[in-house]
Amino acid sequence: MISQLGIIGLYEKRKMARILTGIQSSGKPHLGNLLGAILPAIALSKKERNDSYFFIADLHSLTTIKDAELRKENVRSVAAAWIACGFDIEKNTFYRQSKVPEVCELAWILNCFTPFPMLANAHSFKDKSDKLSDVNAGLFVYPVLMAADILLYDADIIPVGKDQKQHLEMTRDLGLTFNRKFGDTFVIPEPQISNQMEIVPGIDGKKMSKSYGNILDIFQPDKKLRKNIMSIKTDSLALKAPKNPTTCNVFKLYELLGSDEEIEVLRKSYLGGNYGYGNAKQELFELILKKFDKERSTYDKLISDPESLENMLCEGEIKASKIAQSVLARVKDKIGF
Ligand code: TYM
Repeated sequence: MISQLGIIGLYEKRKMARILTGIQSSGKPHLGNLLGAILPAIALSKKERNDSYFFIADLHSLTTIKDAELRKENVRSVAAAWIACGFDIEKNTFYRQSKVPEVCELAWILNCFTPFPMLANAHSFKDKSDKLSDVNAGLFVYPVLMAADILLYDADIIPVGKDQKQHLEMTRDLGLTFNRKFGDTFVIPEPQISNQMEIVPGIDGKKMSKSYGNILDIFQPDKKLRKNIMSIKTDSLALKAPKNPTTCNVFKLYELLGSDEEIEVLRKSYLGGNYGYGNAKQELFELILKKFDKERSTYDKLISDPESLENMLCEGEIKASKIAQSVLARVKDKIGF
């Protein structure tokens, strides 16, 4: 039985945790996605007792991407990134959100229990509606679909970046409200946000985001990647001048990837003067090539074989559908459908 509060979740009793997370296919997966979600989630999935559900949020991407070919291409990139980074799709469940349509039915049910002001006050809606020309209803109910993504799979732990914190709070609120009204139905999930990787900065120093166009795509071919890194914004201090590592975007990114020793060497070069930002960018480029060498070559192989990627996803979708159907049946039973 699910605990009354649901907060403890089933996993303490099951002695295993169900980990779930998703990445939108609204662009190419970037370093913020990798460090904020993909790598921490894969680390959790490797614990023997954990059972992981990782998916591509292609329905969410429809709020911004209307081009079918572009979305398909993004879906393949996100899928290849997960697998290239070491997600074991045999042990776990890997799927496209849209291929398990029960999520839309649950989202509708949850919509009918979602107070309007909760959505009107969502940071991400306010942020997006200020910036985008296409402010559609999908953007408004985005957090409800996300709650459905999570609650549909009895998920316990949701590894995400800090920008998703409010969405997780809404998910918990919706699950708890439903449980109070209808009795234990949903497992109430807990977010897991890595402190160090809370918000990975983009090449302009703001939060790295597909929608700000400031991403670092580590899976690009060498030349493009180097160009991407060379475009990181810095101040215009002369070569001779000592530089401040703590305010420099190049250093901040290097700090997230390098070993303590490597970081120390770069810090000394900054403080010592006669060291240009071009040199620091070259160091960052070489570090990325070294650190993600295996991932980059696996990604290239996967992306050149779309048929295999398709088959891998289809297998996961069969597994995901089974649990989705059983949780949805539990919910519908409670509300009299
Ligand atoms: P999305 O696609 O914007 O981002 C995917 C994941 O990457 C994290 N992230 C970052 N972390 C640190 N620094 C950054 N600059 C950065 N940019 C992105 C995000 O926090 C996220 O964890 N709504 C979600 C997708 C989603 C989802 C879900 C996630 C749909 N349903 C259910 C978890 C559970 C989103 O837009 O992520």
